[in-house]
Amino acid sequence: MKAIVQDTYGPADVLHLRDVDRPTIGDEEVLVRVRAAGVDPGVWIFMVGRPYLVRLASGLRRPRVAVRGRDLAGVVAEVGARVTRFQPGDEVYGTSPGGSYAEFAATTPDRLARKPANLSFEQAAAVPVSGMAALRAVRDSGAVRPGQRVLVIGAAGGVGSQAVQIAKAYGATVTGVCAPAKTGFVRSLGADDVLDYTRAEIDRDGAVYDVVIDTGGDRPLSLLRRALTPRGTLALVGGGYTRGRLLGGYGRQMFRAPLLSLVVGQRLRTVSAVERAEDLDELRDLIESGALTPAVDRSYPLAEAPEALRYFTRGHLAGKVVLTV
Ligand SMILES: NC(=O)c1ccc[n+]([C@@H]2O[C@H](COP(=O)([O-])OP(=O)(O)OC[C@H]3O[C@@H](n4cnc5c(N)ncnc54)[C@H](OP(=O)(O)O)[C@@H]3O)[C@@H](O)[C@H]2O)c1
Repeated sequence: MKAIVQDTYGPADVLHLRDVDRPTIGDEEVLVRVRAAGVDPGVWIFMVGRPYLVRLASGLRRPRVAVRGRDLAGVVAEVGARVTRFQPGDEVYGTSPGGSYAEFAATTPDRLARKPANLSFEQAAAVPVSGMAALRAVRDSGAVRPGQRVLVIGAAGGVGSQAVQIAKAYGATVTGVCAPAKTGFVRSLGADDVLDYTRAEIDRDGAVYDVVIDTGGDRPLSLLRRALTPRGTLALVGGGYTRGRLLGGYGRQMFRAPLLSLVVGQRLRTVSAVERAEDLDELRDLIESGALTPAVDRSYPLAEAPEALRYFTRGHLAGKVVLTV
C-alpha cells in the first residue's frame, strides 16, 4: 500500500510517499481503509522529534513508528476474530497508533466509532484528536456548566474551533481569542464575543472567566490566572510546543500548573491525551444534532503530505488541515 513514511526526524522534507506492507491485524484489531486523515500538532511533534522529551516515547534517534498521522476516517476493511462492535463496510472515524497517512491503518475498537452520518470522510477526519481534546477540556478539565463564562484561547485552531462550539453546547457564554483575520470565523462558530490578541490581552476585562481553555500562545500561568475568577478553572490543552527544544510547552502544563494548583484557589488542570470510543460517540451525537461542525481549512491528497505539513506549520489556520487518501 502507499503510505507517508519517514526514516529520520526533521522538517516536512523527511516525509516520503512509499510502498510499504499493509498492516496485519490481530484478533482484537480492526483494519481500516483510510479515506481521510487529519493534521495536528502531534504529527509535527513526532515528525521533527521535538520537544526532545517526546523521543522517550517515539524513539531516541529515529521514529519507531515510520508511518505518520493519527486521526482517520474510513471504511472497515477487516476485523479480528474477537471484534464484535464493527464489521467490514462500516464507516468509522478515530485514531491509529500505527499511523494513518496510508491507504490502510490498523487500530483497536476502543479507538474507533461510527462516523457521523452527516459528515464527509474529510470533515470526519478533522475531529478525533482535536475534538476529543476539546471535549475533555470543556467537559472534564473545565467542567463547564450552563451560564458560565468561558474563554477559549486559540479559538480558530483545531482544538479551539471545536472547544468554542462544545462550550456553547454545554450552555456557556463563550469568548474566543484569535488573530484579527480570524474574528469573523470565530464568531461564525458561535462565539458570543471575540478578543483579537494583537489588540488586547486576555485580562482586559479583569478576572471574569469561570473557565479558561488554553490551546495556543504559551502565556504565563500568572497572566492566565488574572483572567480567571478566584475559584475559576484553567484547562491547559497545549501551546508553545514549537518553543524550547527539551520540554516545549510541556513544562508549564506537566510540572508548573499541577504544583501551583496545590496552593492557589483556582484549579489549574492539564487536559489529558486519552483516546476513547465513548468520547468519539459523544462527539458524534454533538455533530449529528448540529451543535458541532468541524471546520476544514484546506485539504491535500496523501502524496502532498509534506506540503500539508508546511502549510500547517505556517500557522494561522481556520480549523483543520486534512489529507485525502
Ligand atoms: N492534551 C491533548 O490531548 C491535546 C490534543 C490535541 C492538541 N493538543 C495541543 O493543543 C495545542 C493546540 O492544538 P491545535 O490542534 O488546536 O493547534 P492549532 O490548530 O495550531 O491551533 C492553535 C491556535 O493558537 C492560535 N494562536 C497562536 N498564537 C496565539 C496567541 N498568542 N494567542 C492566542 N492564540 C494564538 C493560532 O491561530 P491564530 O494565531 O491564527 O489565531 C491557532 O489557531 C497544541 O499545543 C497541541 O499540541 C493537546
